Amino acid sequence: MLQTQYFKVNPLQPEIEIIKQAAQYIKNLELVAFPTETVYGLGAMAYNPEAVNKIFIAKARPAANPLLVHVSNTEQVKEMVTDIPAVARILMAKYWPGPLSIVLSARETVPSVVTGGKNTVGLRMPDHRVALALIEEAGPIAAPSANLSGHPSPVTAAHVKDDLDGRIAAVLDAGTCGLGLESTIIDLSQGRLILIRRGAVAVENIEEITGQKVEMPDTIENQYAHHQINAEVIICENQVNFEKQIEKMSLAGKKVAVVFNDQQEGGWQRIINNKYSVQNSYVLDISSGSSNLYAILRDVEQQNIDILVFAPLASESSGFAASLLERIYQSAKKAGSEA
Ligand code: TXA
Ligand code: MG
Repeated sequence: MLQTQYFKVNPLQPEIEIIKQAAQYIKNLELVAFPTETVYGLGAMAYNPEAVNKIFIAKARPAANPLLVHVSNTEQVKEMVTDIPAVARILMAKYWPGPLSIVLSARETVPSVVTGGKNTVGLRMPDHRVALALIEEAGPIAAPSANLSGHPSPVTAAHVKDDLDGRIAAVLDAGTCGLGLESTIIDLSQGRLILIRRGAVAVENIEEITGQKVEMPDTIENQYAHHQINAEVIICENQVNFEKQIEKMSLAGKKVAVVFNDQQEGGWQRIINNKYSVQNSYVLDISSGSSNLYAILRDVEQQNIDILVFAPLASESSGFAASLLERIYQSAKKAGSEA
């Protein structure tokens, strides 16, 4: 067991002394959780296999799963890749710093524990002053989301603590992450644009900016396999069905929580909440561009909810909302069903 250190840090003007202390942990080959604009990351010195290996132990993460390297300038990218294709330059100019990760051909200098033994490396420049300051001090940082493997990504330092207290050296606490949804990942290493994970940047926007089609392989679903919760997830296709499900589950003595969304009328939500004695009632932010989905999923875990019933979700959506809905549908597919 480690004695995890928690440092409060100003998200807009990070205190340099705190950043230096955190960077020192990284240089000492320890792990530091830090905020980004998407979710909290669990960082280790990217060029040091011994340090990076600790990430896999702390998270209980499958070894072959590659890590994104977080950078603060493009010089650091040049040192890790064999080539920066024109389309990568366009996307970096447009989105960096920001929630788009790109996969490029890796040089042999990148440790295989980072690439998962592949000949590519995933790169990301986070749009968060704390993250950028830390990378400036410590150099490129390999970082997955700072959750135990299998849990939802953390959007607050408290979430990180729940999962990793005693397993990592330090946590930089800069409050809640602005987006609450991971970066979009595009593989550019094969002369085409291949989507690896939907995320905060809309695929439509990437196509518009590059003038190229983004291919979506079937394997994309695997990316969400790690968002598991114990509750059964049910997504209802209409309001009648929604009420039926709540009633049925409550009668069966299950602990039921419901999730409305911010596109639904408040009056209707109140009626449902009053009519059925649900354990918990949440409102999912779909349209704000800042997601509370992971906070909801973590709360559902903590409250030992048996069944999580989603009120009807709009199926036609694009961008941020589409990425969010995809994650919800994936958790439903694994844990339960659509109704
Ligand atoms: O927003 C984010 O991307 C957050 C913050 C912390 O930056 N990071 C994050 O990392 O979500 P992680 O490890 O939880 O998810 C990154 C995904 C992994 O599932 C991994 O399989 C994929 O990116 N990945 C990383 N490098 C790759 C590569 N070279 N080729 C294909 N997939 C890669
Ligand atoms: Mg993750």
